[in-house]
Amino acid sequence: MTYLKDKSALNTAQLIKWYRLNKRDLPWRNTNSAYKIWLSEIILQQTRVAQGMNYYLKFVSHYPSVIDLAEASEEEVLKDWQGLGYYSRARNLHKAAKFIQKNYKGLFPSDYNEIRDLKGVGDYTAAAIASFAFDLPHAVVDGNVYRVLSRLFNIKTPIDSTLGKKEFAQLAQQLLPKDRAAEYNQAIMEFGALQCVPKSPNCEACPFIDSCVAFRNNQIELLPIKEKKLKQKKRYLNYLIIESDNELLVNKRNSKGIWQNLYDFPLIETDKSLAENALIKNKEFNTLINNTEFKIQAVSQERKHILSHQILFAKFYHLNVGDNLKRILGKFERIKKRKLNEKPIPKLIENYLKEETNLLSLFSAQIKSIQPWQE
Ligand code: ADE
Repeated sequence: MTYLKDKSALNTAQLIKWYRLNKRDLPWRNTNSAYKIWLSEIILQQTRVAQGMNYYLKFVSHYPSVIDLAEASEEEVLKDWQGLGYYSRARNLHKAAKFIQKNYKGLFPSDYNEIRDLKGVGDYTAAAIASFAFDLPHAVVDGNVYRVLSRLFNIKTPIDSTLGKKEFAQLAQQLLPKDRAAEYNQAIMEFGALQCVPKSPNCEACPFIDSCVAFRNNQIELLPIKEKKLKQKKRYLNYLIIESDNELLVNKRNSKGIWQNLYDFPLIETDKSLAENALIKNKEFNTLINNTEFKIQAVSQERKHILSHQILFAKFYHLNVGDNLKRILGKFERIKKRKLNEKPIPKLIENYLKEETNLLSLFSAQIKSIQPWQE
């Protein structure tokens, strides 16, 4: 280990004292179960505590043990995950549960390297599980920790650079009181979540105001530093909700990328926003429709949906094809409208169906409030 920062900017005993006074009472903090801690950590990756809480409670109650999770179908797990986003987390969770069932007889591993090797578990999550469940001396480094350490120690190395990752990991490991790993790790993350917040932290109330180097140098708002600006790609999705009286076509998304193994509808993706008349002339649209007679019953407004790396612009076309669904079938699945509710679907589609149609609640496809299509 080569990192030689003066450690006095962070008094760890004082941090733990702060934590005992200020911590939130969260259900995954009242258990030693590595399985439940793992569930909570996977759910909380890229998810706020307020949003993750209900999913955590749902997963613990639907799948009380690793074996219950392993024996569920992937579709069931994805359905329970619906709305949380980053669905690879759910697929990996399920695969890892199967792995634990097969290789560890359903007993969650207690060795750091075995934990780290599980699908979907990176350095942060392995350290969190190893310390919270088994009190092993591995320091966590998440977004909160980067923020707290970069400010207290005034570290300008970008946190998304290879050097930055190494530097912060080393410092975090040096600071960790080895005999209080679990509580210290919780404490530093909680401190970042509640006190050393990204925007306008209340430094006057901070127990480290006298030792914080960034505060002394008036650089709190500048830190932590990121080197890369997030690029967001724009995508234009024209969804076709192709219906007969009581059935419609759905598409299981098999390829890698967003929403793998979730269901959506037949889709024409274009490189810009298309008007209805342009869509009808589109070659891919015509191949898909396969000369079937159709009537456009309604078209939605364009709906914007923001993901971490993509901005989606989606329009939904409701096409009635009488009893000719089978002419279009191709790789799609034909399902009863009332069964749509049972499939895992992306939040973008769920929101649209809930807000603008009653396809998720009723048997018929009455459209409540979208604009009628005009020729
Ligand atoms: N975010 C990630 N892990 C967490 C935890 N254990 N408690 C609170 N927030 C978290």
